Amino acid sequence: MIPLPLLSLILLSFLYSVYAVAGGEGTYANAAVEGAQIIDNSTHIPTGFYTFRHVETNKYLQFIDFQNQIVPTQGENSTVFNGTLFTVKWHGDKNYSIQHVNHANLLKCLSTRWDHTRGSDDAGVAWQCEVDNKTIDKPDFDIYPNFHGVYNASLPRPLHGGKGHGKREDTNTSHHHQSERRFVNTYEAIRPDKQQWLFMRADPSASFDWTNVAFDPTTGKNQYSGDIIQPNRKEKRNSGSHLVYLVSAAHLWNMRSRCLHPTASYVFDFTPNNTGVTNLDFCHWGNQSLLWEMTLWKPKDFVLGEEPNPAFVHPEVSVWAVFGSGYPVETLTLWSCLLFVSLIAWICH
Ligand SMILES: *[C@@H]1O[C@H](CO)[C@@H](O)[C@H](O)[C@H]1NC(C)=O
Ligand SMILES: *[C@@H]1O[C@H](CO)[C@@H](O)[C@H](O)[C@H]1NC(C)=O
Ligand SMILES: *[C@@H]1O[C@H](CO)[C@@H](O)[C@H](O)[C@H]1NC(C)=O
Ligand SMILES: *[C@@H]1O[C@H](CO)[C@@H](O)[C@H](O)[C@H]1NC(C)=O
Ligand SMILES: *[C@@H]1O[C@H](CO)[C@@H](O)[C@H](O)[C@H]1NC(C)=O
Ligand SMILES: *[C@@H]1O[C@H](CO)[C@@H](O)[C@H](O)[C@H]1NC(C)=O
Ligand SMILES: *[C@@H]1O[C@H](CO)[C@@H](O)[C@H](O)[C@H]1NC(C)=O
Ligand SMILES: *[C@@H]1O[C@H](CO)[C@@H](O)[C@H](O)[C@H]1NC(C)=O
Ligand SMILES: *[C@@H]1O[C@H](CO)[C@@H](O)[C@H](O)[C@H]1NC(C)=O
Repeated sequence: MIPLPLLSLILLSFLYSVYAVAGGEGTYANAAVEGAQIIDNSTHIPTGFYTFRHVETNKYLQFIDFQNQIVPTQGENSTVFNGTLFTVKWHGDKNYSIQHVNHANLLKCLSTRWDHTRGSDDAGVAWQCEVDNKTIDKPDFDIYPNFHGVYNASLPRPLHGGKGHGKREDTNTSHHHQSERRFVNTYEAIRPDKQQWLFMRADPSASFDWTNVAFDPTTGKNQYSGDIIQPNRKEKRNSGSHLVYLVSAAHLWNMRSRCLHPTASYVFDFTPNNTGVTNLDFCHWGNQSLLWEMTLWKPKDFVLGEEPNPAFVHPEVSVWAVFGSGYPVETLTLWSCLLFVSLIAWICH
């Protein structure tokens, strides 16, 4: 015979587990496991200046100075030039930021945007760098002199923020919320993880080799084993290329991981100054559609804005955190075991 308090405890824990699974569209039961795998599958890379080319579409991730956008650009002229060259800095662990400077010499970081209505990270946007804003490190070379890049002027134009401009025609009338929403900056304060990205290898068993350079996470500096390759776009001279998934470090431990997806969105909700953004989609290892070729045009050592933490730190997952994040089977098993043990103890008593 099971005593009543024990029975109600069993019932309660069962109900809680069911509720936790059914209730949270946002949280993901397997996040801690997959998060750790993603970190294992990711790699250190030399710091320096990189381009990111989407493998299937040949679109380059581009910083567009007009109102600070980061989108994959379309067209034949999507290529390597200063608009597609990003400064990649290290922030400890396998976390990096992807930065670009705008015409006003302000530092912008590829940042993860949180969408309130869907309760998920939905896009990569250009936002002021807060994770590492101490030094501005523009490329110290011009890979494609006098080239200004492709920007399809017939795409919906970002709108100017502020009051008095609200009368502009909606570019997407099917979004009825849009006109109330678009000028409201509901973008959350930046936490460091929102401006950090992981480079998950397409083939996690392969180590990334770069020509004459490797990254040393114990010092946070590049180690050179020969002359730095001088970049040359026409001759395709660079320090090497590798295939990666660009994983957002935000919500790695409690939600499904998000990867940069090579489509621009011009649905203006939630964006500072209503700019174009790059969509995020669920990471799915083995899915070619999420693969980017990152090319190191020139390695460079940077001063970090934050004290780097070279030790890889595994997150501490408490029993309560596990319980709260809604492990269905594990939680039930854990609680059943506990209850069974106490039941035996109670019987033997
Ligand atoms: C591509 O770039 C060339 C040279 O700058 C320019 O003449 C041409 O119009 C561009 N094409 C497109 C589609 O932007
Ligand atoms: C790197 O990102 C992961 C995932 O967000 C986080 O747990 C870890 O603390 C970060 N490391 C550093 C040094 O910021
Ligand atoms: C860097 O970021 C910190 C924290 O957000 C801010 O207080 C500081 O003013 C920023 N510095 C620069 C140079 O933008
Ligand atoms: C790239 O460099 C050209 C000059 O070569 C300049 O006109 C342009 O504004 C730069 N673009 C960006 C995004 O820095
Ligand atoms: C520019 O965008 C318009 C509207 O989406 C599209 O019809 C057109 O094909 C695009 N042009 C180029 C060169 O990509
Ligand atoms: C307009 O909104 C609809 C519905 O969300 C979407 O399918 C479509 O892609 C949007 N069009 C543009 C140009 O953003
Ligand atoms: C928004 O636009 C204003 C005015 O053009 C500019 O000062 C500000 O830096 C922009 N904000 C962002 C986040 O780009
Ligand atoms: C990590 O890589 C392995 C292959 O080595 C793959 O099976 C696994 O799904 C990857 N994990 C994640 C979370 O992408
Ligand atoms: C692969 O990724 C693309 C882009 O995010 C997505 O549309 C597609 O559903 C994914 N396929 C699988 C099998 O996950």
